[in-house]
Amino acid sequence: MKKVLSLVLLSFSFLCFSQSLQSPSKTIQLDFKIGESGMPTYNVSYKNQPVILQSNLGVLLKGTTDLASNFSIDSISNQSVNENWQPVLGEQSNINNHYNQIKVALTQSRTGRKLNIVFRAFDEGVAFRYEFPKQKDLNYFIISDESTEFNLSGNHKVFWLPGDFDSNEYEYNQTSFSNIDTKKINLDNGIGVKSISGQYTVQSPLMMKTASNLYLNIFEAAVVNYPVMHLEADTKNFKLKSQLVPNAIGDKAYLQTPCVSPWRTIMMSDDARDIVGSKMILNLNEPSKIDDTSWIKPMKYIGVWWEMHVGKSTWDYAGSQNAQNQKTQDLIPSGKHGANTANVKRYIDFAAQHGFDGVLVEGWNAGWEDWYGNWKEEVFDFTTPYPDFNLQEVNDYAKSKGVQMIMHNETSGSVGNYERHLDRAFELTQRYGYPSIKTGYVGKIIPRGEFHDGQSMVNHYNFVARRAADFKLMINSHESSRPTGYSRTYPNYIAAEAARGNEFNAWSNGNSPMHETILPFTRLLGGPMDYTPGIFEIKMNVYDKTKTAQVHTTLAKQLALYVTMYSPLQMAADLPENYEKYPDAFQFIKDVAVDWSQSKYLEAEPGYYLTVARKAKGSENWFLGAITDENQRKTDIKLDFLTPGQKYKAIVYQDSKTAHWQKNPISYEIKTLEVDSKSKIKLILAAGGGTAISFMPIK
Ligand code: NOJ
Ligand code: CA
Repeated sequence: MKKVLSLVLLSFSFLCFSQSLQSPSKTIQLDFKIGESGMPTYNVSYKNQPVILQSNLGVLLKGTTDLASNFSIDSISNQSVNENWQPVLGEQSNINNHYNQIKVALTQSRTGRKLNIVFRAFDEGVAFRYEFPKQKDLNYFIISDESTEFNLSGNHKVFWLPGDFDSNEYEYNQTSFSNIDTKKINLDNGIGVKSISGQYTVQSPLMMKTASNLYLNIFEAAVVNYPVMHLEADTKNFKLKSQLVPNAIGDKAYLQTPCVSPWRTIMMSDDARDIVGSKMILNLNEPSKIDDTSWIKPMKYIGVWWEMHVGKSTWDYAGSQNAQNQKTQDLIPSGKHGANTANVKRYIDFAAQHGFDGVLVEGWNAGWEDWYGNWKEEVFDFTTPYPDFNLQEVNDYAKSKGVQMIMHNETSGSVGNYERHLDRAFELTQRYGYPSIKTGYVGKIIPRGEFHDGQSMVNHYNFVARRAADFKLMINSHESSRPTGYSRTYPNYIAAEAARGNEFNAWSNGNSPMHETILPFTRLLGGPMDYTPGIFEIKMNVYDKTKTAQVHTTLAKQLALYVTMYSPLQMAADLPENYEKYPDAFQFIKDVAVDWSQSKYLEAEPGYYLTVARKAKGSENWFLGAITDENQRKTDIKLDFLTPGQKYKAIVYQDSKTAHWQKNPISYEIKTLEVDSKSKIKLILAAGGGTAISFMPIK
């Protein structure tokens, strides 16, 4: 179904002062106005209450004038779209894209330059973007800044990350807007790269809640050939201004007309479930550019991975000896190398035995002795295995067991080096039949001076996904800029980490129990996250008595994350031997789906709790995940999402009565019930706990 209604409304030869746009249900209204000095401005209201006060629009150009003032309106055209589309993989098999649009065509009187601003109003928010039409006087140009503002209506509660141009691997700070201050917090992102742009600069998506209980989220969609937008907070006047991430010489974006900016998005609702379940960011991206998507498949995987994070083995082959610049064949093996053929075969056996699609192997390739901290150009070639990893043998073995291998390309931030080797890396991956690659960008970027969130890096991540599509490979990027819906256009960009993942619980002060209740309102809006859940051995002192690190959840909450943290590529991150200790709980990870036909957000409050039910694609099975922060939680859930008249066997994996994320995290109970769509279930979640339920129809 596609309904498009277009109309060129008005042709102005005079100055028009104001134009309104309403969402399909009319709850949201955006007003566009030419303000003082001919500056384009907008404001937004929700149910007639002001949400965004009059705010400036426009961009500044390097070396010439601005594209932010002295404008008059040429014309305004209207369009309404109501269409459905089907994602290749997703939270639901059908997505509705329903909005009203106005396109305002402007001319700058002083220069004769043209700028269009396109506004869309959806039922869960508004979006706008700049269009730079082809014109004589504006061909190649450099954006030195964006004037885009978001003037808030009050001192809202804010969930913010410090504006680090190089990393989004932080915990959320929850403060009032006036208390945003990166100087007041511990800026350790755990990976040693810090490029904090300013004391009051924060990252988007920025989730907020107003005093009148309106949920508000500022983000962006379709960041393509443009830098990431961070936000500069004027904490006294409750204003946010776009802060584009610069390149090595301070420029923001190099563009050529005709071109567009990303969409700036403002989601709002008095029901938090509307934000967390919104498909607005995906809707604002282009449809798939891959015609044959039959090779893009969801994957549940295990990996030679956590054992390095907990220090049981190492990525490198030669241990702690200083192996800088030594030839691989001269390295003296430490005996602790995780990615050796025998160990990898053990994981393949485990994957085959328990029905996992794939096995990730990190540390298989030469270079890890010297991968981090030296800001070195040529670290990896992405094709040379260590002497104890037999590529052919491992792959033959995996094939014989019906298991697929997942390639790992850690770039250690040396991106020019990766691009030089990219096709050879992809050829090798394709030759051995790996379906997907996990990439990584730990460390400072080379070319030196560039940031992870700058325009050229955004182009790099997108290019890697596009080039991978030529090889029919799926990409899961870590330490990239956070996704903004590009997985709609390149569905082989199957997942990304791009936030503080579960790994931080292995070796740092970790992720507080509320962390996973915020990510779905922020990071997850732009695309699936490879959070790597499923850690059963919660305390790291089981590996080494001196360790104090721990996962900040109960075991039952680790199960619930498979449902609350959407990804079609989902890892069972713990060690095989740990799963063998808890086979009854492990059953949920084996059963849970990763691709869905329906998702129902049943309860949601950012920073507190989230309850989601999802129906597996191509199946009648449902799965439910409920998580809480550091507070215990009791709730009654109606099972009215189940098919009426059908009886289901419900297996409930819950925290025991004495469970607690810190004091007693592994304590859980499993019970089996018979339920139908008229049943209710009482959930009792421990502090830092969760509940996971599988519902299978009784034949
Ligand atoms: C950081 C990634 O997030 C992690 O998953 C990986 O193991 C290390 N880098 C090494 O590549
Ligand atoms: Ca990471």
